[in-house]
Amino acid sequence: MARDAGNLAVAADGAGLSPAQFDAVRRLMHRTTGIDLVPGKESLVRSRLAPRLRLLGLSDVGSYLDYLDRDASGAELAQMVDLITTNKTSFFREPEHFDVLQRDILPPMAAAGRVPRIWSAGCSSGEEAYTAAIVARETLPTVALPARILATDVSTRVLQRAREASYRDQDLIDVPPAVVRRHFTRVPGQAGRRRISDATRALVRFARLNLVVDWPMHGPFDVIFCRNVMIYFNRPTQQRLIRRFAALLAPGGWLFVGHSESLTALEHPLRYVQPAVYRRAP
Ligand SMILES: C[S@@+](CC[C@H](N)C(=O)[O-])C[C@H]1O[C@@H](n2cnc3c(N)ncnc32)[C@H](O)[C@@H]1O
Repeated sequence: MARDAGNLAVAADGAGLSPAQFDAVRRLMHRTTGIDLVPGKESLVRSRLAPRLRLLGLSDVGSYLDYLDRDASGAELAQMVDLITTNKTSFFREPEHFDVLQRDILPPMAAAGRVPRIWSAGCSSGEEAYTAAIVARETLPTVALPARILATDVSTRVLQRAREASYRDQDLIDVPPAVVRRHFTRVPGQAGRRRISDATRALVRFARLNLVVDWPMHGPFDVIFCRNVMIYFNRPTQQRLIRRFAALLAPGGWLFVGHSESLTALEHPLRYVQPAVYRRAP
């Protein structure tokens, strides 16, 4: 990375981010997370870094890049990743996927005496993984362990929220009231918040994992959710990731991507099932 980018003789724009500084942040984010901050994302970078700069008493992004450079621990880089990643998510987002889970995946696996292994890759604050856990328990109410769910993200900030499992009442707007009653409990001393019940939480394990580096787990997974994550990556990164997901799927395993993330332009061995749903050959 051009660590001296802050000193380049390029005029910073009004809010303190020169093209060279944007480029330095862009390359650093790409190298670290695969996220491709395309031109046009300057205001996002500015607004997301501004509170951190204020906290550190730094006047501009150039000084922040120098600060990052001096931090050998990598902690500040993790902070920057936390700030710049987009973590928008919700319970029962793109609900057709959970219909497929409920109808086509969980019952046949239970009938075969198998516990599905599910991976929520890029899980943000946990809503996707907990939705899968809720659906698993609702679909197979008499099965003690209806699914094992691994949920991973590169951002430590969202993982902390996911582990806390405490959500505002307005975050549960898409969860049917009866389901809220069965899977959430009131948080003592915190009005307007509910926590995922212990039994539902027990199905999910969270871990920090960067999708663009080596993965410690070998699978196979029966289901991989990687939704609204690849949209931030460039084509070569998406291509590599899809191949790695396909290799980690069990025969007959399912991959769910976000509805705006078609795989049509990518090479992969998976069969198209329905929009944003793919399956490995049995
Ligand atoms: C928009 S959220 C999507 C959350 C959820 N999958 C959904 O669809 O609601 C994207 C998540 O991907 C994560 N992410 C981005 N780059 C990543 C990487 N290289 N490795 C792991 N997670 C990453 C971000 O931190 C963020 O939480």
